[in-house]
Amino acid sequence: MLKIINLNVEAEGKHILQNINLSFEEGKNYCILGKNGSGKSSLATTIMGNPKYKVTSGKLRVTRKKNLDTHHSSRDTAVDITALPANERAQLGIFLAFQHIPEIRGVKVFEFMKSIYDTKTDTKTSFLEFKKIIEPLLKELDIDKEFLRRDLNVGFSGGERRKIEILQIKLLQPTYIFLDEVDSGLDVDALNTIAKHIKTINHRKNSFIIITHLFKIVDHLPIDTVYVMDDGKIIRTGDHKLIAKISKEGFEKL
Ligand SMILES: Nc1ncnc2c1ncn2[C@@H]1O[C@H](COP(=O)(O)OP(=O)(O)O)[C@@H](O)[C@H]1O
Ligand SMILES: [Mg+2]
Repeated sequence: MLKIINLNVEAEGKHILQNINLSFEEGKNYCILGKNGSGKSSLATTIMGNPKYKVTSGKLRVTRKKNLDTHHSSRDTAVDITALPANERAQLGIFLAFQHIPEIRGVKVFEFMKSIYDTKTDTKTSFLEFKKIIEPLLKELDIDKEFLRRDLNVGFSGGERRKIEILQIKLLQPTYIFLDEVDSGLDVDALNTIAKHIKTINHRKNSFIIITHLFKIVDHLPIDTVYVMDDGKIIRTGDHKLIAKISKEGFEKL
């Protein structure tokens, strides 16, 4: 479980998130809704560990089941991640697909994927070993092998960038997967393709946390809990029915 306890966050001297209390349970999916500027991206990037967003009070915690012995008994262990850098949070299974994806000139997709894989697994795979790992995943996603030789995201279409993110998710198998408006700027076909892949990746041990204002993407995924944000606060919590209500009536009627 990823737990956010009384979180207050500041960026550039501005109080952006206020008293956020949330939890994300493994195996359940979530949707975070809210008007533009309500604090959704700030929340996601704070959870990922962006140092620009300063936690002024509160905590972020990851609880995991730890097997103690061969008799299958287990105990929960809690890790306080409030002060951990982003790479260590990634190792604990947190993943964020950004709303705005950076282009990185000079870094090939292959090198990038290999480096995040090596970091996550704490190994040093050889070129050939990694080729064997990545190529089947490319095939599953219907991505041309040619992509591995291109600069990361440079000249990629919206749909292609999202596919590269899905590739990262398949490769790293994170537990808490935050998707920040990954549906924006995609045409219907690209959206359906991405939604289909998300559905196949979703299982009992991971959680998707979907941030959207288009709603369509969550038609394809069972959503357990919906959080609504406004002005840096959580103003409503509900089940999937809240999505239909908001997509019909907007946020004003809440
Ligand atoms: N790095 C930052 N510096 C200053 N203000 C920020 C920063 N990031 C976000 N904000 C402000 O915090 C509020 C929430 O923004 P954001 O999290 O991007 O909202 P959303 O993703 O819901 O549209 C906005 O008023 C925005 O201007
Ligand atoms: Mg945003």
